[in-house]
Amino acid sequence: MLKGKNILLGISGGIAAYKMADVASALTKLGADVHVVMTENATKLITPEVFRVLTKNKVYTDVFDEDPDDEVMVPHISLGTGADLILIAPATANVIGKLANGIADDMLTTTVLPARCPIYIAPSMNVYMLENPVVQENIEKLRKRGYHIIEPATGYLACGYEGKGKLPSPDLMVETVMLAVSHEKDMEGLKVLVNAGPTQESLDPVRIITNHSSGKMGYALARQAARRGADVTLVSGPVNLNVPLGVKVVNITSATDMYDAMTANASDADIMIMSAAVADYTPAVTAENKIKKSDGNLAIEMVRTKDILKTLGEAKKEGQFICGFSMETENMVENSRKKLVSKNADMICANNVKVPGTGFKVDTNIITLITADEVTELPLMSKEEVSDEILTKIISMRQ
Ligand code: CTP
Repeated sequence: MLKGKNILLGISGGIAAYKMADVASALTKLGADVHVVMTENATKLITPEVFRVLTKNKVYTDVFDEDPDDEVMVPHISLGTGADLILIAPATANVIGKLANGIADDMLTTTVLPARCPIYIAPSMNVYMLENPVVQENIEKLRKRGYHIIEPATGYLACGYEGKGKLPSPDLMVETVMLAVSHEKDMEGLKVLVNAGPTQESLDPVRIITNHSSGKMGYALARQAARRGADVTLVSGPVNLNVPLGVKVVNITSATDMYDAMTANASDADIMIMSAAVADYTPAVTAENKIKKSDGNLAIEMVRTKDILKTLGEAKKEGQFICGFSMETENMVENSRKKLVSKNADMICANNVKVPGTGFKVDTNIITLITADEVTELPLMSKEEVSDEILTKIISMRQ
């Protein structure tokens, strides 16, 4: 997903420098051409050799380092101007101070000066150092100049203090890079509303009726839409997933909550994608106290929930696009076509949960895109790849 992207990692002398090995490795695996520039102090905490092996590129630590393969022969200029994104992490108070004040007295600070790409800074230091007004002033200076500041995490710090100042997890830093450069921003200016996951219908204070939905498909859709520049709101049932970076989340529990949250956010959405597995029925009454067992069988009266997709489909405004999902175990295309019409959707993403590699819990899916004029069967793909196909189709249909 980062093929063709040139990412420059600037590593300064914070104890968390070791975490950058994971970041360098993950970005390289995602296809990026990763270059690493380290300050002298950083090399005392983790050897440059680690990054050379992980990235397959020479690691620079001195302005006078030369790379025989570098045609320009002025590495700080070619590295700085050639980068699509620079991530300085950990960024010490010293490096932040130098960058804020135009001091370029080592390879890292010199390389940043000619750069024209987005620059992300992850401050990482002792909580009191971070709180020092001079450090805060320098961070603000950088923010005002358009640098992106990655907020330090809070927790146990290597110096023994508790507080803010930790370098965020490698996953978060990789997500930050992905959000910035993995996709063209072809959905900029669009408001996207996605729902995901199961709903839970309460029988009594200890029991629920739910389904196997993991939320992975909807979360992947929300993540990819955000990476393409959309303003994304995700209405999520109870799932065990991290909220994608850059996505606003509204957590709900029941089908009624889902209905309320979706209708509240629908009016200004340009695109609505309904991948949630919403309960079609809910118990007629939720017992106030735990239902005690008796000798005989138990029948529970269930009543219909409101169909959210149908409601939003009927209220669809000019220019709004609605994409539903359809989960079938037989007659998939025929049944999904009926849903397309009856729910006034513009597209239905259908899948047959009985086919291996599709449906709940797994990271892959086989989807058939059904519109009024077309049926397009997609091959087995990761849920992120499927999401991109779905979003590309939606964009082409809106034009
Ligand atoms: N859906 C909804 N509200 C409901 C039930 C379903 O918005 N109360 C949406 C789902 O999010 C999905 C689409 O309707 O986008 C189709 O859901 P699916 O469960 O496949 O079909 P149903 O309409 O519930 O019909 P059936 O269960 O009979 O197949």
